[in-house]
Amino acid sequence: MILILNGSPKKSGKVATLLRAVEKGLKEKGHKVEWINVYDLKIAHCIACMKCRPDGRCILPEDGGHSAGDKIAACEGLVVGTPTHWGNMSAQLKMLFDRNVPLFMGEKPNGFPIARQKGKPALIVTACSTPLALQLHCCRKPGGHKRRAGGTPLRRAENKGAACPSGHKIHGEDTSTLS
Ligand SMILES: Cc1cc2nc3c(=O)[nH]c(=O)nc-3n(C[C@H](O)[C@H](O)[C@H](O)COP(=O)(O)O)c2cc1C
Repeated sequence: MILILNGSPKKSGKVATLLRAVEKGLKEKGHKVEWINVYDLKIAHCIACMKCRPDGRCILPEDGGHSAGDKIAACEGLVVGTPTHWGNMSAQLKMLFDRNVPLFMGEKPNGFPIARQKGKPALIVTACSTPLALQLHCCRKPGGHKRRAGGTPLRRAENKGAACPSGHKIHGEDTSTLS
C-alpha cells in the first residue's frame, strides 16, 4: 500500500490537486493507495515528554497521531504533500511528525540519528505562492531573513544554492546551512 498524506487544510487546493495526479498515476500502475487528509485527524499536540524515545510509541491516549503513524509504518511507499507555511510544512503535518519521532528516527548510543524509514520510496509534493522575484530578493541578499520578519537574528542564515520555497534552484548544489 502506498500512503498519501495531504498536509493541506484544503481538500481541493493546489497540494491536493497535485496529490490527486500522483494518486492517479500510482493507481494506473496497479498500486493500492490510501489517502489521509491530515487536517481531518484528531491529533493532540506532542507534550515533549521524550517517553517515545525509549518506548517507541507515544504515551498519549490513542488518537489520530497513533493511527496515522501505524499506517506510515505499514506502507510500502509514502507520498507527503504540504503547502509551504512560513517556509516549512503545515502545522498539522508537523504535529503528526512530532508525535511519531521514533517511527522516523532512532538514536545510536553516541547520539547519532538512525534513519528508520531508510529504503522506503518517498515523494514530497509542495506548493507555495511567493513570487519568484521576492524569493530571489529574500533568499539571496545578505540579511534577507531580517527583512522578511523584522527580527534580529541570533545567527546568520545562509542559503547556499538550496531550492527556494517554490522549488526554483538558484545554484546547482542543494545544501542549506545555518552558520
Ligand atoms: C499560514 C500560511 C503560511 C504561508 N507561508 C508561505 C510561505 O512561507 N511561503 C510561500 O511561498 N507561501 C506561503 N503560503 C502560501 C501557501 O503556501 C500557498 O497558498 C499554497 O499554494 C497553498 O496550497 P494549498 O492550496 O494546497 O493549501 C502560506 C499560506 C498560509 C495559509
